[in-house]
Amino acid sequence: MSEHIENATTDFDFHAFQRQIIAEFRNNEGRVGGMFEGATLVLLTTIGARTGRQHTCPLAYLEVDEQAIVVASANGAPTHPAWYHNIRANPMVTVELGAETFPAIAAIAPTPERDRLFERIVDMEPGFGDYQAETTRVIPVVTLHRVNPAEGAAGIRGLGDFLVESHDWLRGELAELQQQVAELVTADAHEPAALPPCPSLTHGIRAHCSEFCSALWHHHTGETTGAFPLLAERFPGLDRVLRQLADEHRIVARIQGDIAQLVENYRPGTGDPATLAAHLHSLAQELENHFAYEEQSIVAALNALGPAPTDIP
Ligand SMILES: [Fe+2]
Ligand SMILES: [Fe+2]
Repeated sequence: MSEHIENATTDFDFHAFQRQIIAEFRNNEGRVGGMFEGATLVLLTTIGARTGRQHTCPLAYLEVDEQAIVVASANGAPTHPAWYHNIRANPMVTVELGAETFPAIAAIAPTPERDRLFERIVDMEPGFGDYQAETTRVIPVVTLHRVNPAEGAAGIRGLGDFLVESHDWLRGELAELQQQVAELVTADAHEPAALPPCPSLTHGIRAHCSEFCSALWHHHTGETTGAFPLLAERFPGLDRVLRQLADEHRIVARIQGDIAQLVENYRPGTGDPATLAAHLHSLAQELENHFAYEEQSIVAALNALGPAPTDIP
């Protein structure tokens, strides 16, 4: 079976053997004869964790509940295969399946999900159970997820797409709040200090600000305590990114605290709307940088975690 590919012994040129399988695969739209006749193979290209070079290897391809899977069995060898080390460092991969080539993100199934999947895999391909019996390491199960922006347009809305929508809503709310404060700055400059310039405006700003700050706080808390830990266990290569994003949440929270205090203490005619406007400007800048980095670095991984919540519009 195809899983035998990974661990060919040293009595022949393993790399030449792999190159031959890869060439045959590419010349025959994914079909490979000989000992792999009838098996479904996939070519997985990873980025070398140490070398930074592309590394392609043929693997057995499996599907459990329509989920694309490869198994880091290395034929029961005592150590993980190189491609597995590579995806731990960088989950972005290229997949060749049949005649198709597409970018994907590789997720390491955590326990107990891994055990559930492995049981199903052994039902389909009992050889993997034999490999597990040969080694003390827990053979990792890796799921492959297409990175395809066109999927959003086709109606598949993932958690990553939901994140971008949430950011867009927060961007809109903050822009509106900034506009309200800009009007307050103008009013404050033209009205005598003894007369409150526009009490209803300040009341509206207070309510809007509190609503926005609460929404942003929930968004960031959800990420820090929910999404980030889920991502960390499936995508170890995102560790540095996730730590930076969590640091940025703390910076944003500090600015939010300053703004909440300014709004709370603001009194028409005696408050300082220009300082409030400056703090909001600084919040908008920090947030935009944060949102942009988050969207660039974790949307594909979040989409791999699952669909967007259906109970939230
Ligand atoms: Fe965030
Ligand atoms: Fe976010």
